[in-house]
Amino acid sequence: MENVTAVILAAGLGTRMNTALPKVLHPIGSGTILGKIISSLKKAGITDIIAVVGYKADIVESFFKEGVRFVRQPELLGSGDALAHAVDFLPDGGGTVLATCGDTPLIAEETYRKIVQIHRKEGASCTLLTCRVPDPASYGRIIRDTGGNVLRIVEEKDLTDEEQKLTEINVGTYCFNRPELKKYIRDIEINEKKKEFYLTDIVDILRQNGGKISSASCETDESIGINSRKELAIVNKMINRKTIERLMASGVTVIDPDTTYIDETAQIGKDTIIFPGTVIEADVTIAGGCKIGPFARLRPGTRVSAKAEVGNFVELCRTAIGEASKVKHHTYLGDTEVGSNVNIGAGTITANYDGTKKYRTVIEDGAFIGVGAVLIAPVRIGKGAKVGAGSVVTKNKDVPAGKTVVGIPARQLEAKKEG
Ligand code: UD1
Ligand code: CA
Repeated sequence: MENVTAVILAAGLGTRMNTALPKVLHPIGSGTILGKIISSLKKAGITDIIAVVGYKADIVESFFKEGVRFVRQPELLGSGDALAHAVDFLPDGGGTVLATCGDTPLIAEETYRKIVQIHRKEGASCTLLTCRVPDPASYGRIIRDTGGNVLRIVEEKDLTDEEQKLTEINVGTYCFNRPELKKYIRDIEINEKKKEFYLTDIVDILRQNGGKISSASCETDESIGINSRKELAIVNKMINRKTIERLMASGVTVIDPDTTYIDETAQIGKDTIIFPGTVIEADVTIAGGCKIGPFARLRPGTRVSAKAEVGNFVELCRTAIGEASKVKHHTYLGDTEVGSNVNIGAGTITANYDGTKKYRTVIEDGAFIGVGAVLIAPVRIGKGAKVGAGSVVTKNKDVPAGKTVVGIPARQLEAKKEG
């Protein structure tokens, strides 16, 4: 989107999180709260993004290497003060500023696009993102006149009994006309009760100066602000639920969505069944017709080919499982490439890490690994080869195709002599 600067207000202490970590770095799926907001803004087509940081700013800044400019708020004097610190870093001339709280990560990219479009179409000074929610407590409320025009936003603490009943909340995302924002942002006065400059007060200021206030709406789910760990859990659950519903609609069976965690980025093919208690992390691809779980953990870099089975208490990390192969019980495979039609016995472990470096294991098509085998990487098990139960295959002692090894350390079985 042309001539839009997004400003993410992310300097706050996150008091209610009771945390040493900056609130915006808490996890949302496999990313962070701030990371999710930046990514949605980018997907909306906004390329100029400023994040206002304050509490533990160094940590936040070092977390995001590119794609965002940082501005410091030296003293945490409220959301109005936070945005005031960003205005000097805005481009000159006309344009739109989209300001958004750093703790509302569920706002969809379409919603960011929509608020900018409405704001421009209406030629507004300020456009608010609002929505009606069943439980508006702790949010600022939208006060409208009898004609439905927005008058101002009132914070929870300052609501009259009558205003308490209002269910339309301020989501905390606003579009401003850039020159007007620059002109009036410093007119916000300190709120005496909280000793903070409320950004929400700018609505009334702009309107009193003849500005037009518009509004755009979003879904209730998008509006959740994360102020506590309870809300963090709610948001994570909502994201997970959405991911699982999308996958189910595309033909994946998830037996129990409540006990299954699947990262948003995971790709899963049709007619794969995910059994309960399974965790599928970022950057995992599973083809169709597979059975995964119960209680399997697929970590980043895992690829599972069609019709493969990954069973209970199996952990896979940076590992590829070939077509129709089976890894069904109590196994860890790291940095491993498994061919097709391989059977990995219960309790098989690849020792991929020697304390300094990680090494690869290759198990070729049709190989059979007996229960409780330990494969010390780097090592290769050839096509159709067999590893006896309880064997330890030591590093670089590759097993040739079709051969069988047994024992500790594993040795090749001699072919039986005639007679
Ligand atoms: C804010 C809004 C409220 C809205 C709600 C939506 C104000 C005054 N109130 O309330 O109307 O319904 O969000 O979730 O804005 N921040 C700074 N610097 C500061 C203080 C805050 O950058 O000095 C940032 C925070 O990191 C946060 C955002 O501003 O991302 C909002 O602050 P927060 O304290 O969470 O405000 P709420 O009480 O949730
Ligand atoms: Ca908040």
